[in-house]
Amino acid sequence: MKYYTLGRSGLRVSRLALGTMTFGDDWGWGAEEHTCRELFDAYVEAGGNFFDTADLYTNGRSEELLGKFIADRGIRDKAVITTKFSYNAEPGNPNAGGNGRKNILRAVDGSLRRLGTEYIDLYMLHTWDRLTPPEEVMRTMDDLVSAGKVRHVGLSDVPAWYASRAQTIAEYRGYEPVTALQLEYNLTERNIENEFVDLGTTHGMGIMVWSPLASGLLSGKYRPSEDGAAGEGRLKTVEGSGNPAFEKLTKRNFAIVAELESVASELGRSMAQVAVHWVATQPGIASVLVGATKVAQLEDNLQALDFEIPEELRARLDSASAEPLRFPYNFFGPELQGMLSGSAPLGDKPPGYTPARSVAGEEASAATSGTGNRDQ
Ligand SMILES: NC(=O)c1ccc[n+]([C@@H]2O[C@H](COP(=O)([O-])OP(=O)(O)OC[C@H]3O[C@@H](n4cnc5c(N)ncnc54)[C@H](OP(=O)(O)O)[C@@H]3O)[C@@H](O)[C@H]2O)c1
Repeated sequence: MKYYTLGRSGLRVSRLALGTMTFGDDWGWGAEEHTCRELFDAYVEAGGNFFDTADLYTNGRSEELLGKFIADRGIRDKAVITTKFSYNAEPGNPNAGGNGRKNILRAVDGSLRRLGTEYIDLYMLHTWDRLTPPEEVMRTMDDLVSAGKVRHVGLSDVPAWYASRAQTIAEYRGYEPVTALQLEYNLTERNIENEFVDLGTTHGMGIMVWSPLASGLLSGKYRPSEDGAAGEGRLKTVEGSGNPAFEKLTKRNFAIVAELESVASELGRSMAQVAVHWVATQPGIASVLVGATKVAQLEDNLQALDFEIPEELRARLDSASAEPLRFPYNFFGPELQGMLSGSAPLGDKPPGYTPARSVAGEEASAATSGTGNRDQ
């Protein structure tokens, strides 16, 4: 396992992070404590140091189990813990959720208690509440850094404009900057390519990917059937829940699964490994959160970086999963851009000059995912 600096920070994290949304069976699709401990041990023994949880996960059980396993192994200094606030666990109390200062200050103490730690390495807003101004969020998070409760801050599930504004406010007011964005990205959900990849790479926010397997779909365990889909796992358990993250059993997605199956078979790798590899090696991706309910699944996923996907096979995955470009992104392709440049040929600048955009993207990506700054 190699370690990379996250975003523009000096925090070194492993390329594969361990998602712990399945720690505890309180939601009916997680794992019991003894299995969670095995998952944790397998990840640590593979060299991983980056853990993701949230106050909401399995009603607080995920934080408790993670904190306990870290303490039992005596690795608090080595472990990089991410947790999040936003979701409300107290019906009827509007200030026990959302992103206002009152809730953040309440939530952080609950997370610290359940995790059994004095500080959180990366504290994240979990989901935009459509209300709280970024000034309030960034100032409060900065206070938590000053108080020693938090080391770095991040944003998950927010619009790109909000993250951009939050980072600008942090830069100009001297607050702790946003080090990471946590977003859904996988072969069935590629919308972040439109805004977030450029945003993260140019403004120092490493992208942490969630649901790299589209909640298990891309492992190939579900099959289309006459009554929708067949297969055992989370997506069947939560079918019809209304949570948009779980609506994956669609005709379009099964076409992507079919192409993935064919590519994985040519590579002699599991579909899960190829899906995780694809997302981990897309531009601007800092770390991928792998999740599991069984140790064999995690062991499978942890081998996702041990091989390469040749260009021709990658192009097949790209093409099967491509999403139509909607406005305004369809104005940024070669046809309309040619109308801006008067179709004059634009060459790359010689070495030593500020690189042209495509090269800048790669460089920024390297800086963000740490490929230019790795510990060997
Ligand atoms: N910020 C956010 O809003 C947000 C949202 C979601 C998740 N997250 C974070 O991201 C982490 C990962 O998300 P995720 O759990 O949705 O990731 P995922 O990789 O898309 O799905 C993981 C699930 O797929 C199945 N699976 C995993 N590996 C497999 C394999 N090799 N073969 C067959 N099945 C396999 C398991 O579920 P079954 O055994 O039930 O099939 C496992 O729990 C979470 O733990 C959490 O930390 C964040």
